[in-house]
Amino acid sequence: MTTAEPQTALQGYYAMHAKIYDATRWSFLFGREHILQRIAGIANPKRILEVGCGTGRNLLSLRRLFPLAEITGVDLSSDMLQVAQQKVRNVTLVQQSYDTPVSGDFDLVLCSYALTMFNPGWEKAIQTAAQDLRPQGLMGVVDFSHTQSATFRRWMGVNHVRMEGQLWPQLRTEFATLVDIRRPAYAGLWHYGMFIGQKK
Ligand SMILES: C[S@@+](CC[C@H](N)C(=O)[O-])C[C@H]1O[C@@H](n2cnc3c(N)ncnc32)[C@H](O)[C@@H]1O
Repeated sequence: MTTAEPQTALQGYYAMHAKIYDATRWSFLFGREHILQRIAGIANPKRILEVGCGTGRNLLSLRRLFPLAEITGVDLSSDMLQVAQQKVRNVTLVQQSYDTPVSGDFDLVLCSYALTMFNPGWEKAIQTAAQDLRPQGLMGVVDFSHTQSATFRRWMGVNHVRMEGQLWPQLRTEFATLVDIRRPAYAGLWHYGMFIGQKK
């Protein structure tokens, strides 16, 4: 794992949450396995980047789905990456804020419940992902979408998540859309979304 500075409020948040992340997030980060299955039905990527890979839950699934792929995970939080490092072997982990391309030759960039936490920076991260993809490469995003509840939206804001459906229009602009789905969670308290697009 390569490392970089500095400390931000989000890094402080994940310094506290890294230890309980895997035990808690299964109950509300929906669609993570589904999007990987959808991607596997479309492509067999050889070089994969997960942006905001956190504790490596998806890296492990990607390793199982694509055993021969070169897999890289990027994350701002060294605490989250330390958990990932224990969990999954044979992947490259990089600590950085994702605002510059990693290598520009990936077949798949995955962003799972990451972009809604890039505040500011989600627009730049989507553009950076496009730069990181080879021609015809796939961008896969699963994330919170929107909520009708102002109280819940405020609570998610306290937890660094912006939940205003902001991702999908820019993803449709930046990539050729293959999959674009919104689904309700907890009887519609919020909606989450899945997007798979191809580099234009
Ligand atoms: C909710 S977690 C998602 C982790 C994992 N992708 C998953 O699906 O379980 C969001 C992750 O994005 C990371 N993150 C937030 N802002 C970032 C940035 N600007 N650059 C890279 N990673 C960032 C956080 O440190 C955190 O690990």
